[in-house]
Amino acid sequence: MWDERYAGTEYVYGTQPNDFLAEMVDRIPAGPVLCLADGEGRNGVFVATRGHAVTSVDASSVGLAKARALAAERGVALETVQADLASFDLGEGRWAGIVSIFCHLPPAIRGPLYAQVARSLMPGGVLVLEAYGPGQLGRGTGGPPVVEMMPDAATLEAEVPGLAWEHRYEGERSVVEGWGHTGDAWVVQLIGRRR
Ligand SMILES: C[S@@+](CC[C@H](N)C(=O)[O-])C[C@H]1O[C@@H](n2cnc3c(N)ncnc32)[C@H](O)[C@@H]1O
Repeated sequence: MWDERYAGTEYVYGTQPNDFLAEMVDRIPAGPVLCLADGEGRNGVFVATRGHAVTSVDASSVGLAKARALAAERGVALETVQADLASFDLGEGRWAGIVSIFCHLPPAIRGPLYAQVARSLMPGGVLVLEAYGPGQLGRGTGGPPVVEMMPDAATLEAEVPGLAWEHRYEGERSVVEGWGHTGDAWVVQLIGRRR
């Protein structure tokens, strides 16, 4: 499904970074960054332009090919890994930052994945997360048509134990990020840091 969605030359979510990531990127300390479900790479490439070594992981080889093309156009290095997040090993003490932007997964995949986040971060490392929340259901401005894939902030915080939460917001904002995400939306934003 994602390979088909990304098949055209246009970038479905644009080539500019997610608004929340652009606002929060300076909270990530120096070091390598993992971008989960990075799709066509707009966020991974942006983080790379800020001096981080970035690994973008996504299931879509078509999306990741466009991510590499965007990185080349911007003159930055980007490592891409095609993998199913259902069985992805985040490693231990490896990342200065983990970026999860509109990474909508079923609970059976999301739970085991997010349970690895705290130990895979370096001490002081940061999770930057924005996703549609349950209030997005039925708006038709982006996100999956399944509420279980759009948890609220409390659910996400429980799924990512071991972080100190520095920012939490859930509510409305206007999202204009490519034709795939456009319109008034209901989002969850979290910043969590490993102590
Ligand atoms: C809504 S797009 C967001 C892309 C990117 N984060 C952005 O904001 O531009 C969701 C992404 O999740 C990826 N994805 C969905 N399920 C996945 C899985 N099980 N493993 C890896 N990637 C997955 C899709 O390939 C797609 O690129």
